[in-house]
Amino acid sequence: MDSFIVRGPCRLEGSVEVSGAKNAVLPLITASILTGGCCTLDNVPELRDTRTMIKLMEMLGATVSFENGTVSVDASHLTSHEAPYDLVRTMRASIYALGPLVARYGRARVSMPGGCAWGPRPVNLHLQGLSALGAAIKIDHGYIDATAEKLRGAEIVLPVPSVGATVNILMAAVLAEGRSVIENAAREPEVVELATVLKEGGAGIEGEGTTRISIEGVSEISPYRHRVIPDRIEAGTFAAAAVMTGSEITIRTCRPDHLMAVIDKLRQCGGEFEIGDDHMTVRGPARIAPTDVETGFYPSFPTDMQAQMMAVLAGADGSSTVTDRVYPDRFTHVPELRRLGADIKLDGNIAVITGVGRLEGAPLMATDIRASSALILAALVAEGETKVLRIYHIDRGYENLEKKLQALGADIERITE
Ligand code: EPU
Repeated sequence: MDSFIVRGPCRLEGSVEVSGAKNAVLPLITASILTGGCCTLDNVPELRDTRTMIKLMEMLGATVSFENGTVSVDASHLTSHEAPYDLVRTMRASIYALGPLVARYGRARVSMPGGCAWGPRPVNLHLQGLSALGAAIKIDHGYIDATAEKLRGAEIVLPVPSVGATVNILMAAVLAEGRSVIENAAREPEVVELATVLKEGGAGIEGEGTTRISIEGVSEISPYRHRVIPDRIEAGTFAAAAVMTGSEITIRTCRPDHLMAVIDKLRQCGGEFEIGDDHMTVRGPARIAPTDVETGFYPSFPTDMQAQMMAVLAGADGSSTVTDRVYPDRFTHVPELRRLGADIKLDGNIAVITGVGRLEGAPLMATDIRASSALILAALVAEGETKVLRIYHIDRGYENLEKKLQALGADIERITE
């Protein structure tokens, strides 16, 4: 298992290029199941999750290549309709095979995802949506079995705007007979990206990016070629790094318009931003101002930036609060940040962070993708050496993070033990 050794404190300078968005790529790979040909995606990040999704597609019988950031998937002749436990337990997004398989092949068997490192993450809304479209769903020995002769359009009202449920229902509804409506749909850029690509393949979708998506079913989706949007969470993580280290860096090939809630909060902390269409320059302040952050559904502050924001606020001049309204248990980074000397009190889903003048390097354990990136950010400002264990979590979601940080001047190295 690899670890990172970070020696701080450090200042960053220069520019960094953001990779393609993990959470956009994963559904775009399984959406190829809906087509009868070879789909190509460019700007695909080299991540463990990308590799896991490719492995899943190969297990289903697809032919896949991944070279120089381009993935080609030919899922026209699948030989299996099962996503096994061994893959689903390493990547919950394997559930994105469910909607496309049942829509195109009339059956799917996908291992039921369990909880994750920070608590329960149900998929009931995915299943309710597919069942409203006419799929018969049963749970059999830990597997979701979905079958349908033909899906039929339906009106589905989501009680919460779940990204995953919106994505799965959308992928199924494009091949359903008639019209479907998803009310209270997720508005995240990754959902809009999926709709854009499906429309390029001939799907009849309207309203993506709003709370009401309507879908007119078609009989087939044509193969597509598409360049994936930049990863907004990776860009936000670098912006947080600049602010907390008091550095100036330019973040290239990003979409600042997807990050406005994060930029607003980092500005309140004293960060200065010069924003272009596809880049931004971030300057960190001499002293970080405290602020209060609440996560919510897009366009609110993303839960995927909550841990990194807490790392920023650990060094602020005063007290801040961070409330996670999307995942009330997503706080596994808190005990680890405390090991560096951070003063964080947790009360339910509210963390009260009292800024301290100095963090000290210590051995830490990474627990999930975003918690891990928060630990690395904190290690950049901590005095002395921090060893971050179990960084395979980072490799799931950040492409070449240590190389990008090294190029910005950070003292970070990967140790393979
Ligand atoms: N929810 C339900 N029932 C469901 C689905 C969701 O109650 O069937 C609830 C969840 O418990 C949560 C809320 O709805 O409170 C939102 O969850 P959502 O379904 O939107 O999350 P997700 O689709 O499972 C995606 C990202 C996560 C990100 C969340 C929230 C992917 C592959 N994953 O998960 O990303 O945190 O949206 O924005 O897109 C990450 O990249 O590190 C990551 C965890």
